[in-house]
Amino acid sequence: MKRDHSPVLPGAGATDYARYMRTDTLLGLQRSPAEVVHRDELLFQVVHQSTELWLKLAAAELVEATARVNAGDLAVAEALLLRATLAVRLITDQLAMFRHLSPVDFQTMQPALGNGSGAESPGWRRVQAAGRELGRTFAGHLAARGIPLATLCPANPADPVHRLAEAMVEWDERVSLWRMRHYQVALQVGGHAPAGTPGSPMTMLAKLVEHRFFPDLRQARLHRTGNETDAAQP
Ligand code: HEM
Repeated sequence: MKRDHSPVLPGAGATDYARYMRTDTLLGLQRSPAEVVHRDELLFQVVHQSTELWLKLAAAELVEATARVNAGDLAVAEALLLRATLAVRLITDQLAMFRHLSPVDFQTMQPALGNGSGAESPGWRRVQAAGRELGRTFAGHLAARGIPLATLCPANPADPVHRLAEAMVEWDERVSLWRMRHYQVALQVGGHAPAGTPGSPMTMLAKLVEHRFFPDLRQARLHRTGNETDAAQP
């Protein structure tokens, strides 16, 4: 029997797919060929806009994971955190698209960007805030039950507290890997002088690679391996 594809949902769009996914709006969010100063603006906007979407998902999962920790439902919190972590992996992979954007072409399109910077990314800000909140909530969970951090290392895969702690360490690693790749992009495409050069934004970007949402967890692991002093490095 032939499937009926006529739309039944309300809203704009010729098909239910278009109406549900709001593709008319979504695909109208990029500057048209008539508006762009360089054709690679499409590549640039697609990477940034899709990053914002993945970060929207990541932040939502982090917020829900935090709520689950508060409810004592650590296994679900772990599953949600793994989703957020996968979103960060995906946005890291798509930075590879900038291999196809030359510094000269980027410079040509820069006037179109005004004073805009990825540092103003609303998705990134939400993820930062949600990540910090998860850290605080997890610390509160441990404190309320008298669980010392040190006992989480080495991790016991059968224990939900340990598993969540492992997922948090992985989250931190993934964010740091995004920052490493982003550092390379800023260097190669942005044409900035490398970290250590006075006045270069690259110094700040290199420092941020070492940022951790859950520094205590890393500290606890390093303590176990006897490399505690390494953790003090910036
Ligand atoms: C051609 C691509 C890109 C270049 C050349 C670039 C360059 C830079 C530079 C130079 C900075 C330092 C602050 C500033 O001077 O504005 C920065 C910061 C930042 N950028 Fe990008 N960026 C690119 C792509 C992206 C993408 C796709 C995102 C995703 C949202 C992003 C997010 C950020 C964030 C969040 C910061 C703040 C530093 C941090 O938290 O690690 N950037 N970027």
